Amino acid sequence: MRSTDIRSTFLDFFQKRDHRVVPSSPLVPSDPTLLLTNAGMNQFKPYFLGETTPDHSRAVSVQKCARTSDIENVGRTTRHATFFEMLGNFSFGDYFKAEAIAWAWELFTRHYNLDPERLWVTVYQDDDEAAHLWRRVGVPSSRIQRLGMEDNYWSMGIPGPCGPSSELHYDRGPSFGREGGPAIDGERYQELWNLVFMQNLRGEGTGKDDYPILGELPARNIDTGLSLDRLAAILQDVDTVCETDLLSPTFELVQQLAGRAYPGRDGSDDSTSFRIVTEHARSIAFLIADGVTPSRDDRGYVLRRLMRRAIRHSRRLGIDLALPDLTSSVIGTLGSTWPELTEHSDLIRQVVTAEEEGFERTLRQGSRLLDTAITRATSTISGRTAFELHDTYGFPIDLTIDAARSAGLTVDENAFAELLESQRRQAHRASQDKKGDAVARQELHRRIVSEHGFTDFVGYSSLTAETTVLALLTPHGKAQAATAGDEIEVILSRTPFYAESGGQVGDRGELHTSTAKAQVLGTRPGLDGLHIHTIRIQEGELRPGDEAEAKVDAAHRSATARSHSATHVSHAMLRRVLGDHATQRGSRVEPGRLRFDFTHNSPVEITPLQTCPFTGVAELR
Ligand code: SER
Repeated sequence: MRSTDIRSTFLDFFQKRDHRVVPSSPLVPSDPTLLLTNAGMNQFKPYFLGETTPDHSRAVSVQKCARTSDIENVGRTTRHATFFEMLGNFSFGDYFKAEAIAWAWELFTRHYNLDPERLWVTVYQDDDEAAHLWRRVGVPSSRIQRLGMEDNYWSMGIPGPCGPSSELHYDRGPSFGREGGPAIDGERYQELWNLVFMQNLRGEGTGKDDYPILGELPARNIDTGLSLDRLAAILQDVDTVCETDLLSPTFELVQQLAGRAYPGRDGSDDSTSFRIVTEHARSIAFLIADGVTPSRDDRGYVLRRLMRRAIRHSRRLGIDLALPDLTSSVIGTLGSTWPELTEHSDLIRQVVTAEEEGFERTLRQGSRLLDTAITRATSTISGRTAFELHDTYGFPIDLTIDAARSAGLTVDENAFAELLESQRRQAHRASQDKKGDAVARQELHRRIVSEHGFTDFVGYSSLTAETTVLALLTPHGKAQAATAGDEIEVILSRTPFYAESGGQVGDRGELHTSTAKAQVLGTRPGLDGLHIHTIRIQEGELRPGDEAEAKVDAAHRSATARSHSATHVSHAMLRRVLGDHATQRGSRVEPGRLRFDFTHNSPVEITPLQTCPFTGVAELR
């Protein structure tokens, strides 16, 4: 079965069972606690948490996912990928285990026609109900295994909704590994579909399977995820995810450019490189299409790491400048299903070309430093030099080791590993702190919404509002009062203040009560639907429960609106001068000034234009 038919069979099956088809969300999530979209359920998190009520209680989707936790396994196993399409059906407080299990079995055995004798099931260790339901649809007890938290309890890897899960696996036969079911061998008994019974809320923890369960979600939900790559490999009877119709044109191109054939699943370095280059080319194209550009941190670093791995492995295979052609091939194969690839094809080509050429220069610079180190060393290159090469020049450690070996030297790999680990710990701490703050703030906002509901926004029709102070917030939690000189955040029952959005500054103005006067310095969004005002108390005392009058600074609002119009003009101008790929990547819109971010992968010549009607805008040539 072709991958397009696998997708449509899935969507039709669940649509007939009253599921609403929901488009994939982008790989760059709106959830600030998440780096990249890593599961179909991400966009539905507020429904599971009960923060928002969906207008339909069942959904089905094909979601683009990026997961780099398994990056080291890509190419080494037949099944891991850093990008994949996930087919999923979802229930928001509607059906639960019985329907999810019966439908999964029906779809697999009667629509995809998988041999029931080759299907195995795992359930969470004490989930007798799931085991019973699987037996009821016909799975014998001998093919149902019970596993622990690490395998059969699913969360997003961060605080949020979670629950026990049950997975469907397919036995690919003895040439893939040992007998004994999925508990013994994940290569042979390949996990295809994960059914998560979303019912709990997890807190912050130290690892994948070590976190506190804080309680129950408002309702019991279903979240399933079926890997299109893996199902396609089974239904198309190929060994690896690179050989399905989703990736085979790119896989063949890698072989053509390398001037030799893929050696097969023989465990050799070549076999691994062929698969890494193919798989990463797809992730790279999709990430760039969704607005990620290579950089030193966050998601930009994820992209850069994928690109550098793909480039290194393509060099191993003797291919120069591989990524422009390989990503074009990905676009050719998948562009009709995912039009954003075609729409951004020029940009993808420019970004990968610039990065690959830049990496080439990096390697040359690193080589000079390495040559000096080799000349000076008597027997060993220090861990610090290897680390500097890696950290400053992006020079991979295996290249350093190879070069040292050719000169009859060794590298102090232990010292290198220690430096790397200490840098990793530092980065992890920084990102945990960032995540921790964001999570704590979200928790506080969630409590306010459950007590008072969302902010009633009246700013489309009015610049003033009679309102009530619902809560005063400091960085450490709620406050009982604020007095003259305090700068504090306030949540109001109704507001005329626009919240900052998409880089456009929020409204400013004033807040008066019978006893206090405050300046509103800015407004930003909290949880979706909640407005947070930053105020400075000028006189008197402000307390939750106070009646107040809110008034927007009208001149500030209209100056912001003018800058907003100016971004549209700039955007149109950039597209006309540079081309359609010059799409918006971010912006800052405020009174009298704007910044417009766009991607273009060569220097842009700028001439200040005196006659331009708004200040600070330049003519591009
Ligand atoms: N959220 C689960 C997963 O990603 C099932 O969709 O595996």
